[in-house]
Amino acid sequence: MDRHEGEIKVWDPVVRVFHWSLVLFVGIAFLAGEDYLKLHVQAGYGVIALVLFRLLWGLVGTRHARFSEFMYRPRVVLNYLKDLVTFRAKRYLGHGPAGGSMVIALLLGLLLTSVSGLAFYGGKKMAGPFAGMMVGVDPFWIKALEEVHEVLAGGTALLIGLHVAGVLFSSFAHRENLIKAMITGYKPKATADAPALEEGLR
Ligand code: HEM
Repeated sequence: MDRHEGEIKVWDPVVRVFHWSLVLFVGIAFLAGEDYLKLHVQAGYGVIALVLFRLLWGLVGTRHARFSEFMYRPRVVLNYLKDLVTFRAKRYLGHGPAGGSMVIALLLGLLLTSVSGLAFYGGKKMAGPFAGMMVGVDPFWIKALEEVHEVLAGGTALLIGLHVAGVLFSSFAHRENLIKAMITGYKPKATADAPALEEGLR
């Protein structure tokens, strides 16, 4: 019997490896913090590399990995959010309007947080790729960079919390295991309350 009978492939291996590596690197950066600065910075390099790679994959990757598949107009996102709270949201195969917008916000948040961190590191420790640019910069601006990095990190942590809450809520609302889908790559073709797959509803 086919192991994936009744299922459909949604997430390619690149997306899945990217996702769980990102969780690992962001987790390490968060736990290492300032106390283990070297590890924190190395994890930050990992995050930048992963996000840049994902941006490229969003242009040339498989169908559901492409940005063109999950960029929705603001009105569509708002209507979807309204439907979500009343448990009427349609089931999407790839990223839906809320999830898709969150993916873009997360990628931007992670990139800005990591790059601002590297710039601050360059100014404070005279190390890393930005060190040369930071020679002679007034300490006021180095301090400002630290604040910017902290605010961005806090904002991105908030987005991650919302992302995980959204995944759990959506899994519950549609009676499907989205976490398992991000591990195996497969989603059920139909679920009990959403027999037809909704796609391309932009
Ligand atoms: C550091 C924490 C996390 C970050 C930065 C993060 C980031 C992301 C990103 C960028 C995507 C889009 C994947 C892509 O299209 O390439 C995504 C999707 C996803 N993430 Fe996370 N994630 C985090 C933690 C988690 C955790 C803890 C879970 C499980 C509870 C989770 C479950 C998922 C699922 C199920 C999807 C697919 C959502 C859908 O079906 O539309 N993520 N995440």
